[in-house]
Parts: sequence; structure tokens; C-alpha cells
Amino acid sequence: MAGISQARRIIVATDVEAMARMAAERLIARIAQASGQAAICLTGGSGPQPLYRLLARTYRSRLRLDRTHWFMGDDRFVPTDDALSNIGTARRLFLDPAGAPAENIHAIAADCGSPDAAARLYEAELKRFYGRDRLDPARPLFDFVLMGLAPDGHTASLFPHAAALAERERRVVGVDEAGLAPFVPRVTLTFPALASTREMLFLVTGEEKREILSRVLAGEDLPASRARAEGEMVWLIEAAAAPADLHAT
Ligand code: 6PG
Repeated sequence: MAGISQARRIIVATDVEAMARMAAERLIARIAQASGQAAICLTGGSGPQPLYRLLARTYRSRLRLDRTHWFMGDDRFVPTDDALSNIGTARRLFLDPAGAPAENIHAIAADCGSPDAAARLYEAELKRFYGRDRLDPARPLFDFVLMGLAPDGHTASLFPHAAALAERERRVVGVDEAGLAPFVPRVTLTFPALASTREMLFLVTGEEKREILSRVLAGEDLPASRARAEGEMVWLIEAAAAPADLHAT
């Protein structure tokens, strides 16, 4: 790997269907490139849902389900069958209909007492999967990390002004108070863990994201602006969310 990348490649897609197709092709390419097992980190929110449906429907045969492992970048501390559960949504729309083996789905536990306890368990699981404690920049933890952009600039469950933004040692932390609805506790990977990827792909959809996206692209210090990747960093933006100067290019 070339080292933590600052540069982001920006792609504007005409609509959410085109975005889902582009995201699926990128994800599939990363799975195909993985030499052994592939590790994919999913995200919550509405942004990835068209992608999840498409993966289950059209791309199933290219997912190499026997050797692809699925993780979550963050989750709400609620039972998996709760409508707010990120892994619950990913399972319902994609992993279960596609037939991903249960042992390849690495969910953040939501039944273990506290967000901090869940974070420690997930950190241990990430370390077990990776095979060692320290992350080696030359051998990223993930092949592909999906991310979203919220209206307050948070990404994963890394909210503005939260102490978790500066975390360098822990790979996963508990978030007792969310900064934005839904106001349920969260568990989130930290920036160093999320950065350990061959590709990070942000999905930004909807006109209501245009303002916050302009602020990120202008370099304002928001959580999403701080995201980095050891490998490629791509922002895939629906035309409706793109600031005017992006349309022009
Ligand atoms: C969560 C998320 C969060 C999400 C953004 C964007 O659990 O809330 O993982 O970071 O990605 O809020 O969400 P939308 O795609 O719904 O705008």
C-alpha cells in the first residue's frame, strides 16, 4: 500500500440505480482481487440499501460467498430484529437472501450488557480475523469499506466533537449518546480501523446532502472529512446531492 491517502476520487452518478451498479462493480472487483478471504465492511443508513438489494439480486454469483466475510462499520445497540439494526437491515436486504454463510457474517453483538462491552468483543473478533494485534499498513484489515455521510457530517457512528474521533489505539468503541437521531447508543469502528482498507467508498445520495457534502469538499473539519484509507478513497455521489461545481466537471 502507498500509505494513508489524502486524495479522494469523486464520481457523480446520474441516479441511485446507477450508483448502486457502480458500487457493486467496485465491491465485486475488490472481492475478485483478494488473494484468500475477502473482508468487506458494510454500513447502515439508507444510502447503501439499493446496493444491498442489487447485490442479492444481480451480483450474487460473483460475491464468492464461501470466502467473503462481512463486517459492520457501526451499529445501533439494539437487537438484530429491531428495524434500527444496521446488521439486521443488511441481512434482510442482502446477506440472507444471497445465502451468505452465518460463520462469515461478523455482527456487532447487541446483547452483551453495554456498548463498551460490545465494542471490546468486536475488537477482539477483528483481531482474531486479522491474525495479530497491530494493523500492518501493507496488509489492510479490509478489502472494501462502505461509508455514508449524515446531515451533521458524521460517518459510521463518529459524531462531531466526540472523543472517539481522536481515538488511535482502540479499533472499536462504544458510543453511549448518539449525536443525531436515532438516539440509541452505538458501537463504531474508529478511524484507524476503518482506514485499514484497500478501498473506502462513500455513498452520498439525495438533495438534502448537498449542503453538508459541499462543506466536506471545502475541507471543513467534520468527522467525514477526517476519514482516510490506506488504499483508494472514492466518493460516489448521486447527481441530486452534488454541488453545482461538481456537475460542471
Ligand atoms: C448509522 C450509519 C451512519 C450513516 C449515515 C448516512 O448507523 O447511522 O452507519 O453513519 O451511514 O448517517 O445515512 P444515510 O445513508 O441514511 O443518509
